[in-house]
Amino acid sequence: MAKKGLSYVCTECGENLIKWMGRCPSCGAFNTVKEYRAPRSKKTSGRRGTFQADSPGHGELKKLRDYSREEPLKRLTTGFPEVDTVLGGGIVPGEICLIGGNPGIGKSTLLLQIAAHLSRAGRKVLYVSGEESLEQISLRARRVHALECDMDVLAETSTDRVIDLMRSERPDFLIVDSVQTLYLDDIASAPGSVSQVRESTALLTRSAKDYGVSVFIIGHVTKEGTIAGPRILEHMVDAVLSFEGDSNYSYRLLRGIKNRFGPSGEIALLGMEAQGLTELAQGAKFFINQASLEKPGTAVVPVLEGSRVLMVEVQALVTESYFGLPQRVAAGVNQKKLALIVAVLEKYAGISLGGYDIFANITGGFNINEPAVDLALAAALVSSFRNTPVPGDISFVGELGLSGELRTVADMDKRLKEAAALGFTRVVCPPLTQKKGSTARGDERIPCRDIRDVVDRIL
Ligand code: TYD
Ligand code: MG
Repeated sequence: MAKKGLSYVCTECGENLIKWMGRCPSCGAFNTVKEYRAPRSKKTSGRRGTFQADSPGHGELKKLRDYSREEPLKRLTTGFPEVDTVLGGGIVPGEICLIGGNPGIGKSTLLLQIAAHLSRAGRKVLYVSGEESLEQISLRARRVHALECDMDVLAETSTDRVIDLMRSERPDFLIVDSVQTLYLDDIASAPGSVSQVRESTALLTRSAKDYGVSVFIIGHVTKEGTIAGPRILEHMVDAVLSFEGDSNYSYRLLRGIKNRFGPSGEIALLGMEAQGLTELAQGAKFFINQASLEKPGTAVVPVLEGSRVLMVEVQALVTESYFGLPQRVAAGVNQKKLALIVAVLEKYAGISLGGYDIFANITGGFNINEPAVDLALAAALVSSFRNTPVPGDISFVGELGLSGELRTVADMDKRLKEAAALGFTRVVCPPLTQKKGSTARGDERIPCRDIRDVVDRIL
């Protein structure tokens, strides 16, 4: 018999189950089913959930055209133009946004800086922290110069208290750091459990809409990288942002994963410095190191992140192997992709790599999953193998097919334009990307049919 009020939920897909299982029958994920306790009292559970019976316009049929708005949404700016772009132009009043990321990546710092900016702009800001004491927050605020502004802070973990404050104080902007520390009295399980996190978020979502408060919730990511464990949270909120980066490097990426008020997939490039986060001025060229471009084994590719183009350096090292089985090691690109490109080079470009150890790396700890990187990776491999550098003004873009042919990738024009603007005036690309009149900027496209063509003409 299932215990009363106790059920199970899959943190991957949100499926509800009546008993625990090692593998979710709905999405097939292993070890993701967690205990879920529904709120104990009937009285309070009625106010939970995401639909609002008492909000204006609910429950009656209305004509959609009556709800068209002429003027664009009024948005609050965050003080970081790039972050505004990720949010679709700024923070929308009543928006609820979940921001996730590894511990220590800078989530609290980012939101404190945004809060300080809004506060200086005359908005009413409330920062609720369940993780740190007020002293710790003030230490951070001193570092990022947020002390002089007029923001309210509160060290609190009770969701009900936070909701009460939203009702009485009506801030414009509320930060909850972090959702895993929140708890509701009428749920028996511990803070951070699926039930607590889910119910607290549902309550915050509803209050954000009712009181027109923009709420930013910080969530820790699980080992697997999903925000706050329960996938269900991502369905509840308006926007999900992921704050990424390698703690060995100072750059950080804020990536829009979901956005009900703008495009998703946009990124912001920020740098963590002694005085907090700043926007990186060089932007697109950030991942390029001029000195290494002159050495063999390096090729540059314009990759697309959201609607932005970043120039990224692909490096390869091909050395003779002294052991039986040569090594194939890849960082920043898929290992299988490396094996595939090596095979294509062997078969269609006549480059025999069987007796060589091969290492490939994307510099700066960057990860590329796009097929557009194929050609640059192949070029870096050939360049290292032949020990000749790639000319400094050439970049590569294109997908490699299994018969050695070059294939077009999305948004070719945009990539070529950005590459040319950053001094890569010659771009090796698939055929059919030549548009009439596009050479007006002085850049040159080198269309190649297949990998053999590229190797013969360029490398
Ligand atoms: P924090 O915002 O506390 O991370 P999170 O909330 O995501 O856990 O940031 C912690 C790291 O950022 C810490 O390692 C120190 C570093 N940091 C700086 O380099 N400069 C700064 O101005 C601040 C405030 C933090
Ligand atoms: Mg923090």
